[in-house]
Amino acid sequence: MIYLTRRERFSAAHRMYRVEWSDEKNSEVFGKCSNPNWHGHNYILFITVKGEPSGENGFVMNINVLKQIIKEKIIDKVDHKNLNMDVDFMKGKICTTETLAVSIWNELKSEIEKEGAILHCVKIEETENNSIEYYG
Ligand code: NI
Repeated sequence: MIYLTRRERFSAAHRMYRVEWSDEKNSEVFGKCSNPNWHGHNYILFITVKGEPSGENGFVMNINVLKQIIKEKIIDKVDHKNLNMDVDFMKGKICTTETLAVSIWNELKSEIEKEGAILHCVKIEETENNSIEYYG
């Protein structure tokens, strides 16, 4: 089994909050990421796919195809956007890195399978010190 990882970067605004909670309660639970007037992160996204190399071309998956899928399905939708307000697959969700990773997984899984590979991991680094990995 071979694992292939593509790294992408995007910048986006968000706020972590529950609408039914006061600003004080949201701040208590979500900390600085609950700032009512938004804030941003420079996110780093790692998409790992797995499979056996093709007998025809030696690839697990063509990296240019993977790059294009990630661009169209994710990066074009999130880069320089407000994750809470602008991104269709984040609508109505609490905008944590965990939720973002699961949502990205759901957007990519079938697209990658169409290309003959299996989605293995969505990893997101929100800051240098904080990252999330989702394995489905
Ligand atoms: Ni934040």
